[in-house]
Amino acid sequence: MTVEESNGKLVIQAVKNAVDRFGASKDELIPILNDVNREIGYLPSEALDEISKLLRVPKSQLFSVASFYRMLSTKRRGKHTIQFCESAPCHVAGGQAVWLAVKEHLHLNEGETTPDGKWTLLTTSCLGICAVGPVMMVDDDVYGNVDASLVPSILDKYQ
Ligand code: FES
Repeated sequence: MTVEESNGKLVIQAVKNAVDRFGASKDELIPILNDVNREIGYLPSEALDEISKLLRVPKSQLFSVASFYRMLSTKRRGKHTIQFCESAPCHVAGGQAVWLAVKEHLHLNEGETTPDGKWTLLTTSCLGICAVGPVMMVDDDVYGNVDASLVPSILDKYQ
């Protein structure tokens, strides 16, 4: 079996697992997309084809949904995704210095992925916990009161 065939099988299996978990209903579209995105790291075209077939939703609609939600991506992302809150309350609380520290530590700009495929750096709007700003998420982990000096130790947890 070629690498492509093997990857294709993994994608189809990830979609099947998500549909089994949530049910083949259009109402479960976002949880299914999220599940597959989490499993594979992004939503490859083959995954959207399969979801489109199983849920009877046009692929164009899946692309619209995937481009609306920042947690979803049709482009390959790193193993870990950082979402950094760029809304005003976090900015006022010192977010800019933390943002620069993250960019410098990873040598990344917004939207980029490290060459080793480990990190993708994104900004996000308010995550709803402004009282503990600056706030950033690494995958599903939320970090509040982040200081620039804490950035290396936070990111080192994901070695
Ligand atoms: Fe950053 Fe609300 S402004 S969490």
